Amino acid sequence: MEIVIVGSGGREYSIGLALQKECRIDGIYFYPGNGATSKLGKNIDFANQQEFIDFALIQRIGLVIIGPEAPLVDGLADSLRANGILVFGPSAKAARLEGSKAYMKKFAQKYGIPTARFIQTQDYVESCRFIDALSLPIVVKADGLCAGKGVIIAQSHEEAKIAAKEMLDGKSFGDSGKTIVIEEFLDGFELSVFAMCDGKDFIVLPAAQDHKRLLDKDKGPNTGGMGAYAPAPLVNAQILEEVKSTIIVPTLKGMAEDGNPFNGALFCGIMVVQGKPYLLEFNVRFGDPECEVLMPLFKNGLLDCFLACARGDLKNVQFELESKVCVGVVVASKDYPYKSSPKAKIVIRSLDNTQSHISFAGVSKEGEDLFATGGRVLVCVGKGDNVQEALKNAYAQVESVNFEGMQYRKDIAYQALR
Ligand code: AMP
Ligand code: GLY
Repeated sequence: MEIVIVGSGGREYSIGLALQKECRIDGIYFYPGNGATSKLGKNIDFANQQEFIDFALIQRIGLVIIGPEAPLVDGLADSLRANGILVFGPSAKAARLEGSKAYMKKFAQKYGIPTARFIQTQDYVESCRFIDALSLPIVVKADGLCAGKGVIIAQSHEEAKIAAKEMLDGKSFGDSGKTIVIEEFLDGFELSVFAMCDGKDFIVLPAAQDHKRLLDKDKGPNTGGMGAYAPAPLVNAQILEEVKSTIIVPTLKGMAEDGNPFNGALFCGIMVVQGKPYLLEFNVRFGDPECEVLMPLFKNGLLDCFLACARGDLKNVQFELESKVCVGVVVASKDYPYKSSPKAKIVIRSLDNTQSHISFAGVSKEGEDLFATGGRVLVCVGKGDNVQEALKNAYAQVESVNFEGMQYRKDIAYQALR
């Protein structure tokens, strides 16, 4: 069978790399892919959705896996399904769990899913009234997609009101901020739990932890994620059970009841407060760089999991995970995340290590050379029997990479070493 992976990041590279091992796959297309995915398969591009669907039909594509949120929110999965093409990824309606924070919060409220106390509003006066009733800090969120930047954690009531006003006026996030969510601050530790879902059933992958800030010790600006590791030892079996029973089960049930069954990767952003998990956000896709540390943990059955989700028969799926730890260190370009960086040639010294590899992201190819052209350029992934070993392998891989201005965090997985 031939498959298509939609997207161009390290996430899509890591899915392709993991699926390459499956003997049932005859070919992988990346739409549009990056400068390194062309080594795993073939990069393709189209002027519009219809051209892509025509290609998938003519080529008899056996499965389309959609990586990023934007095409999901735009309804790519719906169009593919309407043409009888198997797809891993939710419908546009189900993707509102990520596309609209107000929708997600109302959904959580309707189905009794634990989440921070909130209001959603389009009105400044109402915002101020609720802000005055909250203690500090206060969380103000733009409703729509803002490339991960639409959340303000205000340290004063004044700051919260200014954030609310600027969002409502369309100044900070355009139309995405015309509706806002204001909520109480939850103080605890954060986790990402991923469930692969077929609309009714699900499988849960090991909990992962992302590192959102640019610099060591969680300093500096927020980024798309500077590193991740899994499984996160902060999660015990009881917390994971509670995430399943109080968040994932009611979500799948509620979405199906509302006529929007959820098919794809459900990324639950969780805050654990005094041992109890609360839902911070949903994403309707795998996280990046979380995906890069989850895919290598599949020993076998990954393709079956994707296919079973797409077909709706996850109940009978067989798969096996490795009992290993995986660490991913993001190597970013010089000026990330502030502005785009000058193009830089990447040199990689080859390593004789089966326990590490690179997932390529913001790279382009010229002849046989790879250049850093994006913000997050690549992710160095290390595996091991424990965190220390995985870290050693990941950072040995980082040492093998060289390009002008490269930056990375030196403390990935520090929470697991405490
Ligand atoms: P979101 O995009 O909603 O996950 O928010 C981005 C980040 O803001 C989260 O990963 C948390 O670190 C933080 N955050 C969001 N909502 C809250 C909250 N209610 N309490 C504390 N931190 C929050
Ligand atoms: N690493 C967080 C995200 O993919 O949104």
